[in-house]
Formats: sequence, structure tokens, C-alpha cells
Amino acid sequence: MEIQKVDFFYIVHTDIASLSDEDRNLMLKARSSTFNAYAPYSDFYVSAVAKLRDGSCFYGTNQENASFPAGLCAERVLLATISSSQTIAEIDTIAISYASNKVSDDYPLAPCGVCRQSLIEYESRFNCQIRLLLSGQTGQVYEIKSASYLLPFAFRPNNLLQH
Ligand code: THU
Repeated sequence: MEIQKVDFFYIVHTDIASLSDEDRNLMLKARSSTFNAYAPYSDFYVSAVAKLRDGSCFYGTNQENASFPAGLCAERVLLATISSSQTIAEIDTIAISYASNKVSDDYPLAPCGVCRQSLIEYESRFNCQIRLLLSGQTGQVYEIKSASYLLPFAFRPNNLLQH
């Protein structure tokens, strides 16, 4: 018998001031575009903004529905938008933010489990590491080198192949 441990490092920035200009701009885009979310049921407005390797930027926000399960998370709206727009779409960084009138929105939140699975599929598909910047409307920013850190033991495309 042996015991294994899973852990990872991430950077905690006190606020956006300690980010590079490029990262700060991306996070500011995520913070301000939460207002494009359609979230009348949860009042929880999420935005994910990607910077691609080629320098282009794409946006995704959560899109809810009166039939609740039909709603979509910001992160998956973003990934679907990017890969529907171009065939080569290596993502460098995604900044994710949220806004709410119901809960305080001054601390970082991480993507839900289903979005983590989708982010990992995207990393595998385009053979890239997606760096994440997570923050609320104000306060700390978490910087995570790869989305895959958030989902240990992930089910991956090669799990469907014989080896
Ligand atoms: N939501 C996201 O957009 N991303 C996440 O990773 C977590 C949750 C959305 C879904 C729903 O519209 C609202 O936030 C409340 O769960």
C-alpha cells in the first residue's frame, strides 16, 4: 500500500495592480463584461474572456433559461464560441470574473466541475495549457498555470483509446 498526494501551486495577487498590463486588461474585460450575462434567475453574472496565442480576444457569459437545466455557463459558452469561429484556436489565458447583488463579489471563484472537464478537453484538443486568472469585481486574483490543475484524475480523450 502507498499513499499518494495531489497538490498544485497557484499565485495569489493582492489585486489587479500586481498583474502585468496584459493580464490586468484581460481581467478588467472579464469584470466589465459580466453585465452581458443573461442571468435573471440566479442574479449571478459570470464572464470568461480568453486571450488566444494569436492575440485575439473572445468573450463568454452565462446564459440562463426559464427551463433551468438549459442554462449555459460562461466558460462553456466561451469555448464553444472560440472553436466555432476558428479551427486553430490555442488559448493562452482565460480571465474569469462574476458579479452579484446577492452575495459579495470581492473574492475569486473557480469554474464548476463540468466547465473544468470542458476546459481540459480543450487543452487536449489544441495541445495547449490554459492559464486561468480568477477574480471577483475587486480584490485578489488567483493565477493558475493550467486548467487541468483544477481536476485531478480527469477523464481525458485518450482514456477512450486502447493502450
Ligand atoms: N456559472 C458559470 O457561468 N460558471 C461557473 O463555473 C459556475 C456557475 C453560472 C451558471 C448559472 O447561470 C449561475 O452561474 C449560477 O450558478
